[in-house]
Amino acid sequence: MALSREALQTALGNVVDPVLNKSLSTLKTLKDLTVDGDTAKVTVELFSPASGAAETVKRQLVDAARASGASALDVEVIFAVRTRQVASDDPCPEVKNVIPVMSGKGGVGKSTVAANLALALHRAGARVGLLDADIYGPSVPTMMGIMGRPLSRDGKNIEPLERFGMKIMSIGFLLEDPKQAVVWRGPMIQGALQQFLKDVAWGKLDYLILDLPPGTGDVSLTLFQRLKVTGAVMVTTPQDVALIDVYKSVSMCQKLNVPILGVVENMSYFLDSAGVRHEIFGRGGGARAAEFAKAPLLGQVPLDALVREWGDNGTPVVQAQPASPAALAFRDIGERLADRVTQSLFEQYGGAAPAEAPRRLPILR
Ligand SMILES: Nc1ncnc2c1ncn2[C@@H]1O[C@H](COP(=O)(O)OP(=O)(O)O)[C@@H](O)[C@H]1O
Ligand SMILES: [Mg+2]
Repeated sequence: MALSREALQTALGNVVDPVLNKSLSTLKTLKDLTVDGDTAKVTVELFSPASGAAETVKRQLVDAARASGASALDVEVIFAVRTRQVASDDPCPEVKNVIPVMSGKGGVGKSTVAANLALALHRAGARVGLLDADIYGPSVPTMMGIMGRPLSRDGKNIEPLERFGMKIMSIGFLLEDPKQAVVWRGPMIQGALQQFLKDVAWGKLDYLILDLPPGTGDVSLTLFQRLKVTGAVMVTTPQDVALIDVYKSVSMCQKLNVPILGVVENMSYFLDSAGVRHEIFGRGGGARAAEFAKAPLLGQVPLDALVREWGDNGTPVVQAQPASPAALAFRDIGERLADRVTQSLFEQYGGAAPAEAPRRLPILR
């Protein structure tokens, strides 16, 4: 019996999007179904470049097609990242998602997490920018191994620097002596951040990751007032002392209606050469912070000398050794974050579609 296009369309439409938990027919993300004899071809659209979701949906589509009598189904996955709400005075309307990485205090690895998450999202196929807004201790120049003065071609917009395929801007690029202490206050900070968002030629970005100064200071406040951020990522370590500070950051976000996308627990455990896990800084901090923030624990990053060494050497571990355990942890967290962004945007706005065509999912190494 010949394969019925209608029956196949229905069967494939019943497959559920693994991130949004809604059927593909409800989401209208199934496209271009063609039937040729007993084989068929279809395109499915996802809302983030996360490869885990792509694999799941592909497998389910093939199974559904087989159950409907097809001998084979060729699935092409495309993706179009959804966008945050952009007001008419938004400083960077072409940036679909603005994601500040925050922590209660310094030294928990906020910059490390920001840089590696940005790289993880870039590897997955997204267009990513990294903005070092930690004006008191810019570490992105060192961590990304990049220094230099951004140029302005038109005397108005500043061109961000580029490294590892990402657009990068740091207060460190603008200081005379990058080692000098920054003693800026209120209005200057607001001015600098405003310039970074508005006057930097970010272009079209899926995700702009911001490395914010620790705590609940002026920079976070200015950011949240200037634009609608997609949501924040909280970085914490497993021990209790760090948590008190995390709670303050979480409360700030809640007061200002900034969604918390999730919590990353850094320096969670140390794997010795025999593969035994040692919880040097205690345990459970990330889970407790996540519970307090009513947000998921996006993942745990091991304490690993590779992370520090590569960070000090200007090539974050996700770029330098993408298959190492620490890099895999960051890449996993990147996928969860991308999925979480999709979920959060759908919860907030019902997932407004961006005004651009979806792109092909890259081949991941
Ligand atoms: N998971 C990790 N394993 C080992 N070293 C880490 C890890 N995360 C961060 N570090 C190191 O800890 C130090 C502080 O990290 P950093 O990202 O600069 O923290 P913050 O931005 O919160 O002040 C850096 O030297 C960094 O390389
Ligand atoms: Mg830092």
